[in-house]
Parts: sequence; structure tokens; C-alpha cells
Amino acid sequence: MALLELRDVHAGYGSGPDILTGITLDVDEGATTCVIGPNGAGKSTMLKAIVGLVRVRSGEVRLDGQRLNDLRPDQILDRGVCFVPTDRSLFPEMSVRENLVMAGYSIDDKALLGSRIDEVLEMFPVLAERRSERARTLSGGQQQMATLARAWIVRPRVLMVDEPSMGLAPQVTEQVFDVIRGFRETGMTVLLVEQNARKGLECSQWGCVLDLGAKRFDGPADSILANPEIHELYLGRQANGNGSASDG
Ligand SMILES: Nc1ncnc2c1ncn2[C@@H]1O[C@H](COP(=O)(O)OP(=O)(O)OP(=O)(O)O)[C@@H](O)[C@H]1O
Ligand SMILES: [Mg+2]
Repeated sequence: MALLELRDVHAGYGSGPDILTGITLDVDEGATTCVIGPNGAGKSTMLKAIVGLVRVRSGEVRLDGQRLNDLRPDQILDRGVCFVPTDRSLFPEMSVRENLVMAGYSIDDKALLGSRIDEVLEMFPVLAERRSERARTLSGGQQQMATLARAWIVRPRVLMVDEPSMGLAPQVTEQVFDVIRGFRETGMTVLLVEQNARKGLECSQWGCVLDLGAKRFDGPADSILANPEIHELYLGRQANGNGSASDG
């Protein structure tokens, strides 16, 4: 059984039409799964439906076989499903360290929280250097690192990250993906949405292509990267759009 399961999930906003039109997906424990697809495909909507920010109209989302659909977003977070939206959502006027402390508000054992904060400051030297500075003074890449560091403090069962490379220079993007690879090496389950499809798939074991609110394909990430049809439809343009090497 997969850790996180989506079964024929339909979801949409308000009284509008279904945006997700029946998505079935297994997210395996300890693996990184990358969701790719064109703008407006429903990738962010899918993550929001999993964490209860968008209502699931029919179908089921399950964690460890237990239904999440009817829970509130805070209850889903308590179950260990952590969603990092694209906007990075730090507290801009708080220091870097205060942002890390806030991430661990639900950890009652303060000694444990302290040791996890020490640990992330060791993992992210750039955050250690700037720990006393306000979060708003960080560069985009540093803010993304701080966001991932916040998630690491919570040790979610499933970490869902929406377009972590958004707006970042290629070199910084590489560092962000290295962090995500590092998380996976510790056994964390990661569900990643990436516009930078090639890079996202390269740091994942499983890939899923969404288009027009439906799953078009899923399979091992390397087989998606090697599939000429998917390449043509979903990888070529985006790779070029991100300024990386041309696909010819
Ligand atoms: N708050 C909202 N209210 C109504 N419709 C929305 C809302 N957010 C997104 N949508 C619609 O849902 C569809 C899917 O959007 P979504 O943001 O999930 O796509 P995406 O795959 O994440 O795209 P992108 O690559 O641009 O981030 C789009 O048609 C969008 O207009
Ligand atoms: Mg999106």
C-alpha cells in the first residue's frame, strides 16, 4: 500500500466546475514523486486538495489507508502532511531563527525543538550566518532554503512542495534540488510539483504528468525522461523556457 493514495479525486473551487476530474495516484513511502504538466493543469490544485485547502467533491485521499477528505487543513497537518506553497510564506519581519522556531510550534518538547533548530542551522550554513536577520532581507534562494528548513523541523510524513525552483537562478535551483535529494536520503516521502520538469524528474523516483485536470501518465521518473512522446509534449518547451540546454 502506498503511503498517500488519491482515488478518483474530483475537486474544484467554490461552485465552479471540477478542476481535477478524477485523479488516481499512489505516492510511495520514502520516494520522491514529481508532478509535471503545463500551466493550469491542476498541479497546485491537487496539492491543495490533498491538504484540505480545496474541497474534494468525490473520490478519496488516504494517508496510511485512512481517509483525509473530511479533515480540516490543520488536522491534516497534524497527521504529518506538510504543504509548502510557491510563495514560501515566511514571516517577513521575524528573524530567520524565529521563523524556524515558529515552524516547530506544535513540538511540545522544547529540547527536541532546540536540537532540530541546531541541526538545520548546521545543514544550511547560509541560514546560520543570517539567523538574526529578518526573513524579508533574504534572497529568493535563501528564502526557499528557510522554507525547506522549516519543513525539516516538523519531520512531516509527506512533504509536498509546489515549484521550489520558481524564480531562482539555475545554480540556486540546483542547491534547492540537492536539499530535496538529501531529504529523500533520510527516508522522507516527498511530493514535488515542478515547472522545471527535467530537473524535478531527475531528483525523483516516480513521475506523474497532469494535463487539464487529469493524469495523463505516471511511471518511473527515468522512463518519463526517456519517453519521446512525453518529451515532445511536456519536457522540451519547459526545458527551453527555463533557459537550460535546448532539446534540439
Ligand atoms: N482560487 C481559484 N479559484 C478558481 N479557479 C482557480 C483558482 N486557482 C486555480 N484555479 C483554476 O484551476 C485551474 C488549475 O490551476 P492550478 O493553479 O492548479 O494549475 P497549475 O497546474 O498549478 O498551474 P501552474 O503551472 O501555472 O502553477 C486553472 O484553470 C485555474 O484557473
Ligand atoms: Mg501551480
